[in-house]
Amino acid sequence: MPIPGAWYKVRMPSFRVETAHGSYHAIVERGIIGRAAEFVPARAGKLFVVSTEDVWQHQGAALARGLREVAHEVLYLPGGEENKRLAPLESLAERMVLAGGDRSSVVLAFGGGIVTDMGGFLAAIFMRGIPVIQVPTTLLAQVDAGVGGKTGVNLECGKNLIGSFHQPLAVLIDPNVLETLPEREYRAGLWEIVKAGIIREPDLFHYLSDRSSAVLAREADAVERIVADSVRMKCEVVTADERESDLRRILNLGHTFGHALEAETAYTRFLHGEAVAFGMRAAMRLGETTGRLSAGNAGQILALIARYGPIPSLQGIAAERILARLVHDKKAVRGAVHFVLPVSIGAVEIVSGIDEALVLDAIGFALS
Ligand SMILES: NC(=O)c1ccc[n+]([C@@H]2O[C@H](COP(=O)([O-])OP(=O)(O)OC[C@H]3O[C@@H](n4cnc5c(N)ncnc54)[C@H](O)[C@@H]3O)[C@@H](O)[C@H]2O)c1
Ligand SMILES: [Zn+2]
Repeated sequence: MPIPGAWYKVRMPSFRVETAHGSYHAIVERGIIGRAAEFVPARAGKLFVVSTEDVWQHQGAALARGLREVAHEVLYLPGGEENKRLAPLESLAERMVLAGGDRSSVVLAFGGGIVTDMGGFLAAIFMRGIPVIQVPTTLLAQVDAGVGGKTGVNLECGKNLIGSFHQPLAVLIDPNVLETLPEREYRAGLWEIVKAGIIREPDLFHYLSDRSSAVLAREADAVERIVADSVRMKCEVVTADERESDLRRILNLGHTFGHALEAETAYTRFLHGEAVAFGMRAAMRLGETTGRLSAGNAGQILALIARYGPIPSLQGIAAERILARLVHDKKAVRGAVHFVLPVSIGAVEIVSGIDEALVLDAIGFALS
């Protein structure tokens, strides 16, 4: 595979992820999907592009140009969190076999986080595992879902409960595709970037504060900068800790609370990034009330979250019900709920055993 050599250093950023299960590059480059064929291994059999009809309509032509020389077939997933289930993957796998798919086939997942999670999982289980190339097309998927190898689908009783770690061959991150992203999806993705700033990237945090108008206007330089910083951060964390045992948990800032909110509202009221914004408000409050975070830093974090808002109305949601959901979070290890709490701009701590009254207060604060 023509893994980029020196050229990427003079173009746009490429970050290496190294794990026990594979090493690859996540490349942030405008127009890179026009060169997608370069990332398909020379000896590969049939390439299956997994996408959704709407993503293909918006951005398929550019990818198709990049795959001109490669025999490929486009397969559609239905899209939507309610369809992030095993059943559509079984249908796609049947179609792949009928279309001549075998162990030499490769999947290219082209879409938002739902497609990268599902396409990645399809590759992980098709004939016991074939390679996947991730080509994320939402801001959230570019900075988060597309990188790191976590794949999976939902069960009736909970999100992402079936899945696998399946590291990709490469992640191709093309900021051009974000041009057609709806405003609400763009903002939801920005909150994951705010998260990156809070947990590990103070410079990114300050850039997001200082250049918020450029970021919101999707100015090219600003988008590239914040995407590249977030991707670099995620690649570093995944390289240091592939399987979410310790360091990788910092990526869950806002997610324990956020998942509870998503579950409580049946995944219909909030986008993932919006739920994370809510969750980061709660985590910020808990950081402050447990004496970890200064009032000054708390104010900065709140202001930045608000700058990329507003979060849709949280009316009618009971704090007690969110608290009850937290206990069921699958990330709770043997009953203890772990919280990622900010301690300053760019640093967090993982804490368990927090007094329930303080947790309830934090939820109440985030809901208000
Ligand atoms: N694996 C991980 O590490 C990880 C991390 C975070 C989130 N996730 C998962 O990601 C999913 C959410 O992903 P998402 O927010 O990208 O949602 P999504 O995949 O539903 O995409 C959002 C919407 O945008 C459309 N879209 C995508 N790209 C577009 C483009 N370029 N132009 C116009 N429209 C476009 C999609 O068709 C969809 O309607 C969740 O299921 C979540 O669990 C996974
Ligand atoms: Zn997330």
